Amino acid sequence: MSKVLVVTSGKGGTGKSTVAASLGAAFARRGSRVLLIDCDSGMRGLDIMLGVSKGVVFDIADVVSGNCKTEHIIYPCPHTQGLFLIPAPQKAEDELSPEVLSQFIESVESQYDIVIIDSPAGVGKGFETAVYPAQLCLVVANAEPTSVRGCVNVRKRLKELNKDNIRLVINRLSKRSFFKLNFYRDLDEVIDETQIQLIGVVPESPQIVAAVQKGAVCTGDSKALVAFDRIAGRIEGEKLPLAVS
Ligand SMILES: Nc1ncnc2c1ncn2[C@@H]1O[C@H](COP(=O)(O)OP(=O)(O)O)[C@@H](O)[C@H]1O
Ligand SMILES: [Mg+2]
Repeated sequence: MSKVLVVTSGKGGTGKSTVAASLGAAFARRGSRVLLIDCDSGMRGLDIMLGVSKGVVFDIADVVSGNCKTEHIIYPCPHTQGLFLIPAPQKAEDELSPEVLSQFIESVESQYDIVIIDSPAGVGKGFETAVYPAQLCLVVANAEPTSVRGCVNVRKRLKELNKDNIRLVINRLSKRSFFKLNFYRDLDEVIDETQIQLIGVVPESPQIVAAVQKGAVCTGDSKALVAFDRIAGRIEGEKLPLAVS
């Protein structure tokens, strides 16, 4: 099984951080020790999503520059046992290089069952840093043409970076996405256009938004929970049906 995952998408706002946090929580529910690394330098958000933002003093750039020890940047998530977060640098200019992030992960990964990296939007330097250590790249799309184009760009860039283990997560799916936009006929058309193998479908879920506002992860919503549990199961090699609302 791949141990280091990255969640990416090209376009901003597709739900990368939500997927990274909720998938991390799904692995934690399955009994894994999970390390989430926020790589969205200058735009970090996982600390808010996971309810640790008030306690954050140091971030990953502080460890690399010797300001603090590794244990000072690993924050246990209060709502989910087994889930730990490393916040991204507050300033964009403190972004790590691919090699430095990779060395850092090598130094801590033996203490975790799974490491999930949350990538910034785009296919720039931050993206390259985030994907470099990953053995599995999850690309998040919504059923919208701009989001699908973002995925196509990400897929091409990942191939250039010799990343071949790529899977698609369709997020925020609702039947209305097709009727309202009147662009794609169905889910198959979205998947075909991305040319990425599907690993899971997460429904549009108001409960995710409410959970995030409370600094928690995807609580109380059965369909989204099932979707993330199944993605975690499939990553661990289980044969599970796709969770489509
Ligand atoms: N499955 C979902 N259902 C409803 N809202 C969602 C879902 N996934 C993400 N969102 C919302 O979409 C917005 C963007 O999500 P976020 O994870 O911050 O995206 P990104 O990290 O790609 O920029 C947030 O307001 C989040 O609550
Ligand atoms: Mg994000």
